[in-house]
Amino acid sequence: MIDNSIYILGIESSCDDTSASVIHNGKILSNVIANQEIHAAYGGVVPELASRAHQQNIVPVVQQALHKANIDKKDVKAIAFTRGPGLMGSLLVGTSFAKSLALSLNVPLIAVNHMQAHILAHFIEDDAQKKPPFPFLCLTISGGHTQIVKVTDYFNMEVLGETIDDAVGEAFDKSAKILGLPYPGGPLIDKYAQQGNPKAFRFTKPKVGDLEFSFSGLKTGILYFIQKNVKENPNFIEENLYDICASIQYTIINILMDKIKNAVKETGINHVAIAGGVSANSEIRKRLKQAESDWGWSTYIPKFEFTTDNAGMIAIAGYLKYLQNDFVDETVGAKARFKVSE
Ligand code: KG4
Ligand code: ZN
Repeated sequence: MIDNSIYILGIESSCDDTSASVIHNGKILSNVIANQEIHAAYGGVVPELASRAHQQNIVPVVQQALHKANIDKKDVKAIAFTRGPGLMGSLLVGTSFAKSLALSLNVPLIAVNHMQAHILAHFIEDDAQKKPPFPFLCLTISGGHTQIVKVTDYFNMEVLGETIDDAVGEAFDKSAKILGLPYPGGPLIDKYAQQGNPKAFRFTKPKVGDLEFSFSGLKTGILYFIQKNVKENPNFIEENLYDICASIQYTIINILMDKIKNAVKETGINHVAIAGGVSANSEIRKRLKQAESDWGWSTYIPKFEFTTDNAGMIAIAGYLKYLQNDFVDETVGAKARFKVSE
């Protein structure tokens, strides 16, 4: 008999967002996210401040998620939490909270890999997104990762290629910082790029292996380009902001598209998904969609709210693990380094 009352609480605290979500048989009932504004002033996430903010946010965020889902904590069947990868101090807050809540409610505990969860967000039951069939390729692009993953099953994932230095989200954020924009700069570059000419300025693409990425050279190239031009015209950034953003974004998205194209060619798999914070980017979403008609791919683009860090993705990963009876006991520890293939 199908159990119709599988409510799972998901908790995410790997970086600078505290989030909690309730999922009911694969459907998200609530997905509450508390962003930490405090880091904007520092140009990046300050781990110590992030951990402190998680401690302040976690109780109200969880309460709100239960309230929005219109359930009582006694209805929760299991608690899923992000075990890693991420900042140790941040992970510890979610991990210890999840453990004590599971203990007090006497329900099982489910440990989730954050990067797997980004990918598994595609399996949330939602009319606005279609589910990829196995095997599929997933371009996992976030603030900490840039990988091409071959997904053979929910928890069977293999990294085909990844960045040898910075992640693509860092490339966006560091470029934004050079332009004097606040952290996180990715969404702002995306916004300004929409009004600019993507071919106004040219930046060189890195030369690395077919399925590898590199973004540190690009960042240095952008820095020198800006320094040189600002020397000649102190108002260069203000006068050209939209064109600069459009050109940076165009270069980055071209790199991503080239690599995923290589992966499709090498594997013969043309079901292609994107996941992670950078999959919120309007240009990558557009270009991937275009690949359907241009190259005959089937593409899977997550709903906007499941792209950047959120507990909805932890809840769906938890639900899928629940169905497999994949539980952990309270001796489980947070894991700052945690491969998607583990
Ligand atoms: O997945 P995520 O929320 O956190 C990590 O797991 O790292 O990804 C955050 C990254 C940041 O670097 C942020 O600038 C980037 O995703 N990002 C974007 C956009 N929205 C978020 N980058 C480009 N365009 C966007 N619209
Ligand atoms: Zn993430």
